[in-house]
Amino acid sequence: MIEAKNLTMFYGSTCAVDDVSFKVSPSEIVGFLGPNGAGKTTLMRVLTTFIYPTKGAALIGGCDVTRDPIGVRKAIGYLPEIPPLYPDMRVDDFLDFVGRARELRGRQLKERKDWVVSACGIGSVWKHRVYELSLGFRQRVGLAQALIHDPKVLILDEPTSGLDPIQIIGIRGLIQDLAKRKTILFSTHILQEASAISHRLFIINQGKLVAQGTLAELRSQGGNPDASLEEVFLAIFRRSQKTKKEHAGV
Ligand SMILES: Nc1ncnc2c1ncn2[C@@H]1O[C@H](COP(=O)(O)OP(=O)(O)OP(=O)(O)O)[C@@H](O)[C@H]1O
Ligand SMILES: [Mg+2]
Repeated sequence: MIEAKNLTMFYGSTCAVDDVSFKVSPSEIVGFLGPNGAGKTTLMRVLTTFIYPTKGAALIGGCDVTRDPIGVRKAIGYLPEIPPLYPDMRVDDFLDFVGRARELRGRQLKERKDWVVSACGIGSVWKHRVYELSLGFRQRVGLAQALIHDPKVLILDEPTSGLDPIQIIGIRGLIQDLAKRKTILFSTHILQEASAISHRLFIINQGKLVAQGTLAELRSQGGNPDASLEEVFLAIFRRSQKTKKEHAGV
C-alpha cells in the first residue's frame, strides 16, 4: 500500500532522507521513531507530495508521488506536524470546507462530518473559531480534516502531541480501530505509544532507516529478548551513530 524505493531528500547540502526503502502492507500500522531532526517529517512530506524527492521513488496505493501526485493526495489523509487550520474559521465551517474540497456533498458530507465530530471528540468546540481552541483541540480538528474523506491511507506526524492523557488514550484507540480498514504511518517521540499501537516500528536516524520490524524482531536484532523498548531504541540509535562515524572514517 505504501512503498518507498531508495528515497533521498536534500535541502541544499543537508541530506534529510538518505536512501530509504520500505513497504507497508494494507491495514498495517507502522510507527516512525527517531530523534529530533532524524528526517521523519521530511519523509512524510515526500510521501504526501508536499515536496518532491531529490532521488528515488514512492508509491501510495499504486500512485507515484512524482508522476501522479493528485492520485496520491486523493488516497491519503495527512496530519502535518503543525495542523493546517484557518484560525478565523469556525470548526464546523472549516470541516465543511475541507469536505467539499474532498468532493463530498449533501448527505455523504453530513454523515462524514457527524462521524469525525464523534470520533475526534470535537462536539464541544464545533461552533468555536479555530483561534479560540487549545493546542489539543487544534490537534483533534487537524485529525478530523485528515479523516473527513475516509482515506485508505493515513499519514500522521505526531498525532498525539499536545493532547492530554485521556485524549491520547482515545486517539490511540481510534488509530487502532481505523487500522482495520486503513494503512497508517505515524511518527511519535513516545516509545510506549509506538510499541502499543504499531504492528511494526521503523527507526530513523540522520536520514537513514536504521532498523525496521516488530518489537520482538528489533529485540532479537539487539541480542537481548528481554530488553525494554528504551534499551532497544538506544542500542539501535548508538549502533547507527557508530556506523555513520565509521563510514566517515572518524
Ligand atoms: N524546510 C527545510 N529547509 C532546510 N532544512 C530542513 C527543512 N526542513 C527540515 N530540514 C532539516 O532536515 C533534517 C530533518 O528534519 P525533519 O524535520 O524531517 O526531522 P524530524 O525527524 O521530523 O524531527 P522532529 O522529531 O524534531 O520533528 C533536519 O536536519 C532539519 O534541520
Ligand atoms: Mg518532525
